[in-house]
Amino acid sequence: MTTALDGRVYIVTGGSRGFGLAIAKDLVEHGGRVGLISRNTAGLDQAVAEIGTDHAFGVSGDVGHIDSIRSAFEAIKNHYGRLDGLVNNAGMAWPNPVENLVEQEVLAQVNTNFLGTVFCCQAAIPLLRGGDNPRIVNISSASAWHYDEISHLSIYAATKAAVERFTRDLRLEVQQDNIGVTCIRPGGAITDFAAQWNADGFKAALDAWHDYGTYMDMGMDVGHVGESVRYAVSQPPGVAVDLLEIRPNMRMPKVKFD
Ligand SMILES: NC(=O)c1ccc[n+]([C@@H]2O[C@H](COP(=O)([O-])OP(=O)(O)OC[C@H]3O[C@@H](n4cnc5c(N)ncnc54)[C@H](OP(=O)(O)O)[C@@H]3O)[C@@H](O)[C@H]2O)c1
Repeated sequence: MTTALDGRVYIVTGGSRGFGLAIAKDLVEHGGRVGLISRNTAGLDQAVAEIGTDHAFGVSGDVGHIDSIRSAFEAIKNHYGRLDGLVNNAGMAWPNPVENLVEQEVLAQVNTNFLGTVFCCQAAIPLLRGGDNPRIVNISSASAWHYDEISHLSIYAATKAAVERFTRDLRLEVQQDNIGVTCIRPGGAITDFAAQWNADGFKAALDAWHDYGTYMDMGMDVGHVGESVRYAVSQPPGVAVDLLEIRPNMRMPKVKFD
């Protein structure tokens, strides 16, 4: 049995588009309110306008910078007068074979996906402590464990595996504060995630991906990820969804890209 979200406030990092926007919309549709964080102000403003200013409040910030995150989180808690949860969703990837990895791309993935999650948890714990059903949800990726997701994502997948291992210790450490911790491991759904990928690197990754079999799975959309997050945060006190993996399940031949 799940609990109502009425009036509860959740921070969603990377809330301006893709999974984050879908998570935010789902929480709001079920009675919650959201504080959205992303770097680009225009995207954030658009997301807040879409959801409505009564239920969404945006603060620009980079999850890889602890100071900017602390002040963004405080601004959100002050705006609503409460904070009930954090969804660590901001993330990015650059496909590249190990031999060709570029230092800046490696660091950007580690800073955003892993350190960003660590810093956001650090900033959120004191603000969540004392709440009646506080929650932290960390978004991983099926690519941390499944080779058939897409190729040449060694660093991205490793940052997500690190998030999962970090989440295990986090869960134990904040248990005495009554903070429920969940790791959600989604498979692929269409977003702008690959929009910035270098075309050659993307093609090489897709070519290599064909070596892992002739089929791929489709059928999941961002709304399913939103529902998964809501399921996790609306568990009653004393119950936590530790790990939830959700993947597309409609088998079809892999598409060849030229
Ligand atoms: N799409 C998939 O198939 C898939 C599958 C499994 C897991 N995931 C995970 O799901 C999460 C969301 O992915 P998505 O597909 O929705 O990606 P997306 O469409 O590219 O959206 C990423 C969001 O994160 C924000 N962001 C990126 N870097 C940030 C930073 N350093 N600080 C603050 N915000 C930042 C972006 O806004 P700004 O650029 O304005 O900062 C944007 O709001 C990621 O963690 C991803 O690894 C995605």
